[in-house]
Amino acid sequence: MAQKPSILVSRKIFPDVVDHLREHFDVDSNDSDGVLTPAELIARLQGKVGALTTGSERIDAAVAAACPQLRMVANIAVGFNNFDVPALSAAGVLATNTPDVLTETTADFGFALIMATARRLTESEHFLRAGQWNRWALDMFAGAEVHGSTLGILGMGRIGQAIARRGAHGFGMKVIYHNRTRLDAALEAECKASYVDKTTLLKTADHLILVLPYSSENHHTIGAAEIAQMKPTATLVNIARGGIVDDAALALALRNRVIAAAGLDVFEGEPKVHPDLLTVPNVVLTPHIASATLKTRHAMAKLAADNVIAYLTQGQPLTPLNAEIIGKAAR
Ligand code: GLV
Repeated sequence: MAQKPSILVSRKIFPDVVDHLREHFDVDSNDSDGVLTPAELIARLQGKVGALTTGSERIDAAVAAACPQLRMVANIAVGFNNFDVPALSAAGVLATNTPDVLTETTADFGFALIMATARRLTESEHFLRAGQWNRWALDMFAGAEVHGSTLGILGMGRIGQAIARRGAHGFGMKVIYHNRTRLDAALEAECKASYVDKTTLLKTADHLILVLPYSSENHHTIGAAEIAQMKPTATLVNIARGGIVDDAALALALRNRVIAAAGLDVFEGEPKVHPDLLTVPNVVLTPHIASATLKTRHAMAKLAADNVIAYLTQGQPLTPLNAEIIGKAAR
């Protein structure tokens, strides 16, 4: 029997998804789940035609050049800033991500973080656990209203829209957004969201949530100057990517109460967290778990696997990032 082509699964995923891949491929799965260094990754990729990756692995021109048999990489994430897509296209390597399957789950979490931040959930829990609750007070941990307030969304893709629907229809919020391109009128009406410029968004939102993809152009899109434009009572939530917010500037602004509070699921240089963020009380911190329900994480792994199977066995990936190379790829 002809030998199956080989692929790498760069981190531990669900056993049934690995079994599914094994029907088509010889699978090298990193079940120890340690993050591979760039050199280890290149070594493990030798002889592999495909790889399932996560945000922990950088896949760029150097990887493509060092792994001449690699024909595709399937990220188990909707974000793909760990891929240098133009370099992969130039090298003839197809790239895929996992859109749609995580939209609603991630929007739920975005809303959870908005509420936890506005209503001071973790700050008050820490107080209680520390045994400091010895009497009730009228203004104890008084936070900001969520219902009926103004929700600002920076980045209005699928997840931004799902958050807008929750805010407008579930919480009676006035929803404003800013995005590179404005939504068409029907979608704006369905999301009950109004387009504004970035300055208006910063100045008007009671709760601002970031849902835009990371690129070098939007590095530190929210820094000290932008935070200073926000209301002193406002909250800021980042479920997008580390690097969109200047974390050092945010920690200082939180300490100085330039804004009321923040909720962060993503960090510059994660899994490291800026030490100043760990000592300010008015921030809710979570370890990049916005899409983390078992159902959704399984769907993401399954979609990545189906992309690998579909492209490497039939030349037709399901959710390509560089579809223009299909049929032209030299690999
Ligand atoms: C998670 O951050 C993702 O991009 O899917």
